[in-house]
Amino acid sequence: MKTDVLIIGAGAAGLMCAIAAGRRGRRVLVVDHANKPGKKILMSGGGRCNFTNLGVAPACYLSANPHFAKSALARYTPADFIALVEKHRIAWHEKEQGQLFCDESSKLIVRMLLDECAAAGARVETSCAVERVRKTEEGFAVLTVRGEVHAESLVVATGGLSIPSMGATGFGYALARQFGHAVRPTRAGLVPLTLSGKHLERYQDLAGVALPQAGARVGKRAFRAGLLFTHRGLSGPAILQISSYWQPGDDLRLDLAPDAEAADWLPAQRAARPAAELKNVLADLLPRRLAQRLCEVWFGSRPMRQYREAELREIGHRLHDWPVVASGTEGYRTAEVTLGGVDTDGLSSSTMQSKRVPGLYFVGEVVDVTGWLGGYNFQWAWASGHAAGEAA
Ligand code: FDA
Repeated sequence: MKTDVLIIGAGAAGLMCAIAAGRRGRRVLVVDHANKPGKKILMSGGGRCNFTNLGVAPACYLSANPHFAKSALARYTPADFIALVEKHRIAWHEKEQGQLFCDESSKLIVRMLLDECAAAGARVETSCAVERVRKTEEGFAVLTVRGEVHAESLVVATGGLSIPSMGATGFGYALARQFGHAVRPTRAGLVPLTLSGKHLERYQDLAGVALPQAGARVGKRAFRAGLLFTHRGLSGPAILQISSYWQPGDDLRLDLAPDAEAADWLPAQRAARPAAELKNVLADLLPRRLAQRLCEVWFGSRPMRQYREAELREIGHRLHDWPVVASGTEGYRTAEVTLGGVDTDGLSSSTMQSKRVPGLYFVGEVVDVTGWLGGYNFQWAWASGHAAGEAA
């Protein structure tokens, strides 16, 4: 069979690309080996899909080339996607920090994309695995389990490696290499961090203890959001965010009380309540179980009058600059995204087209562009998919 544009991957980027190309009158076929389209959209945002972020800017993305995402992001913006959502009367709200969610269900976003595909004449076939791709004179011959498809343009929208149980494969990277593209080393991003040995033993039984606000810092990069102790280490949005910037051996620091000036506050508490035990005073700043544990392991817990002012200042400074020795990450099994991927040097930033092989495009997470937590990754999928769909 023949088509103008064949898209491999019916996820966020592939479906958006299909809509844009179909609207231009191109015959479009999307194939996906999974049994339904948009599985990651369905599971995203706790089932409500954090579909974009009002604060989207190129600086919110990690890539070997920090300029690469600029063009596509500027030409398909959060406002463009919101207009689409509103056209389909999907109710949405801003949760915090510019993060936009559906009021009801992620299913509505997948429905919207499929309806738009249908309106643009783009066909979507699921349970259709791709076995082989070869270059032909007119374009590409793609062998699928349902037969060979000939297409002028081929768009690779196969996503990253995270959550293999949802259909993630390394297929897009293999295809990139087949056509001579470099692939930057991949690793799990937006992922919980693990502790081991004595570091784990100290905090393991705090699993479930949460800080509504904490700072997490690696070098000059810092995030402030919630933090959660788990059975294996640390999670919560602040940890997920910093995980994309952390590599084994890096020095990770936490601010356990970012709203306080603990180095001044503790001496003031000594004056105000000299008989109170340190662990009870700290429980005003931190979850009680954490305050108690820090005292057991590090500070002791005596009446405040028994600490020198300098000691209390030192403890205060420590709370704002707490060193964590992470041993690793939870890996692709739970990661929201995959860092690295198809090297942007080989792609046009305005169309996502290969500079090596005309007619070949890479969009979405398979490309070496990874966003922060909070709707940034979908916005990259929409924007890069749209850019390719305008050109393919
Ligand atoms: P995506 O992974 O969506 O799609 C790739 C498609 O290709 C899949 O349908 C897959 O089956 C198919 N495929 C793979 N290999 C294939 C092959 N060999 N043959 C045929 N088909 C193949 N982001 C965000 O902005 N807001 C959020 O709320 C969330 N929440 C979230 C929760 C969880 C649990 C995860 C794992 C991830 C998120 N994300 C997110 C990240 C977001 O889901 C992700 O960045 C986008 O889905 C990437 O879109 P793509 O279309 O590039 O890949």
